[in-house]
Formats: sequence, structure tokens, C-alpha cells
Amino acid sequence: MERKKIVITRKINFTGIDILKNYYDVIFIDKTESPTKTLMMRKVKNVYGILCTLSERIDSDIMDAAGSNLKVISTFSTGYDHIDIYAATKRGIYVTNTGNVLSEATADLTFSLILALARKIVDGHLYTMNGKWKKGWRPDLFLGTNVYGSTLGILGLGNIGRAVAKRAQGFNMKIIYHNRHQLSKTIEDKLNVTFMTFDELLENSDFLSIHTSLEKDNFHLIDSKELKKMKKKSFLINTSRGSVINENSLIHALKNKWIAGAGLDVFEKEPLQSHNKLLKLKNVILLPHLGSATVQTRNRMSEVAAINLHNILSNKKPIYLVNTELEDNHC
Ligand code: DGY
Repeated sequence: MERKKIVITRKINFTGIDILKNYYDVIFIDKTESPTKTLMMRKVKNVYGILCTLSERIDSDIMDAAGSNLKVISTFSTGYDHIDIYAATKRGIYVTNTGNVLSEATADLTFSLILALARKIVDGHLYTMNGKWKKGWRPDLFLGTNVYGSTLGILGLGNIGRAVAKRAQGFNMKIIYHNRHQLSKTIEDKLNVTFMTFDELLENSDFLSIHTSLEKDNFHLIDSKELKKMKKKSFLINTSRGSVINENSLIHALKNKWIAGAGLDVFEKEPLQSHNKLLKLKNVILLPHLGSATVQTRNRMSEVAAINLHNILSNKKPIYLVNTELEDNHC
């Protein structure tokens, strides 16, 4: 029997993909890079499933180019702001993601940024590597600030935010948070967190860490007005999506020392362009979107993405469905 055709937008070399090779005629669009839209439109013709990464924009043109066989778009990511969910739902196409598989890895990375910013880890490393450490121990060399006992603000206390909160407990931090909806007293007590208004969160955090998904209503949620409200000695950390912050306003705030620094793993435009003014700043740590980048997590993400896709095409429930409105249509 002829196998159903599915497309994987780029080479993903992790355990889960082998599952798919057992069942489907798998087409990889590109070996390493994200394919162009034109190439994707050509390659998706008549496929039943698309497995994509967060770098490919899957819009209605791609869905229409695939045609009526297309039943599932499975993203090898937890964020799904790169997929037009409305267009998919309208066409009865299931969208699946990797749910909370990457929460612990992303929380680890968030905490690495907090510690690295507070204790000037990157500056100290470069100073040592570049042979500038010539005069032995000095009482005032790379003085940082305490993480232990300071106040951590979490914007968005979902899976990743909660994993960050658990780590912060070990550092005896006061943990404050803001969410669309305040959590139950039981969860607040368990995590030892205190709900605050958005403004209070900005005003009281020593470290403000962003963990909201990118939605239409939180695009540029952190702009000049918000940055002005933060403490001058505070640090902003973003491992969610770049566009939650207005990057130009942040650059202005960092240049003018409205805040002490920022640790960023995500940007408005990725990869970061060589003319981006963030690259000229001294009070930042910039990473190339590494939140979930551990071998264990990426393997598990690939398995979940593969199982999601296979389950939909076998009339079974996926592990994580994004457009839950379609759940009832499914066996
Ligand atoms: C995701 O999956 O949304 C993450 O940003 C990848 O690290």
C-alpha cells in the first residue's frame, strides 16, 4: 500500500523522527535551514501532515498549497505563534505542539541568565580568557549583586514560570508574579508566590523574568512606560518570545541605564541581525534561542511532535492539541 506523504520542514536529527519513517513517506524540505515560503509551498503539495519548527511561518497560503489531504500541523516547539491557528481551525486542520516538555530545560536556562547577569559571569570569563587578569585577586573585581534573598518577578506563571519559581525557592528569593488570572491559594502557597498587579510587579522586581506566550494582546507589552517603572538596579530576562518586549525601547532603556541589564534568549527578529544595536551594549547577555536546547529535551520534543502527528493521522488523540475546538471532531 502506498504510504501517506508527510513533510518535515528541515532536518531534525532526534529520536522521534525515526518513528515517522516507519509509517510515512517522509520528505525533508531542507537539510539545515528554514526553507523559503516558495519552496515550502511547492513541497507541501498533497501531504497529510507537516512537522515544522518555530522558524517557519505556517499561514493559510501554505495550508492551501498542501490541499485537502492536510490533517495535522505538528510543531517541534511549545510556542505556536508562527502558525495561523485560526486559518488551521477553519480548515479542520489539527495543530499540535510539545506542551510542557521543555519547561525544566527552559527554567534552567532562565536561571543561568539570572545568575550570569547578577555575577557578571560572561565579563569575568572573557576577561580571564583574553589574558587581562594580570594582578591577582582584587577586592573590587567584577562586583555583582546577590541573587540569594532578592526579589524575582515572574510575568506569566504557567509551566515554565512555575519551574523557575521552584528554582528560586532554593535561592530564598521573594517570588512575586503577575498573570491574566490570579492562581488559587493552594498553588500560590505551594510555590510560595505572591500575586501583584502588572505595575507592582515592574516596580518591585530585582529580576523580572518573562514567561508569557506571544498573543495579539501582549505584543510589546514591555515598552518604555513599563521599563521606566522598573528599579534602576533590576535585570530583565526573556526566554519566551522577543516581541513581548519592544526591542528598540529596551535598547534605549539599557543605554540610558533605566535598568541594570538584560538577559535575552529571544528576539523580535531571529537570527539577530548584525546591525542590531543590542550587539553594541555592555549590559546584556544574548543567546541564540537556546531555551530547550538540551539533548534530552530535544529528543523528547521530537518524540512528542512525531507521536502527535502520527496519532492524528491514526485517528487517536495527540499528546498536546492546540486548537482544542477540534477535539470533539476527533475519534
Ligand atoms: C519553543 O518550543 O517554543 C521554544 O521557544 C524552543 O526553545
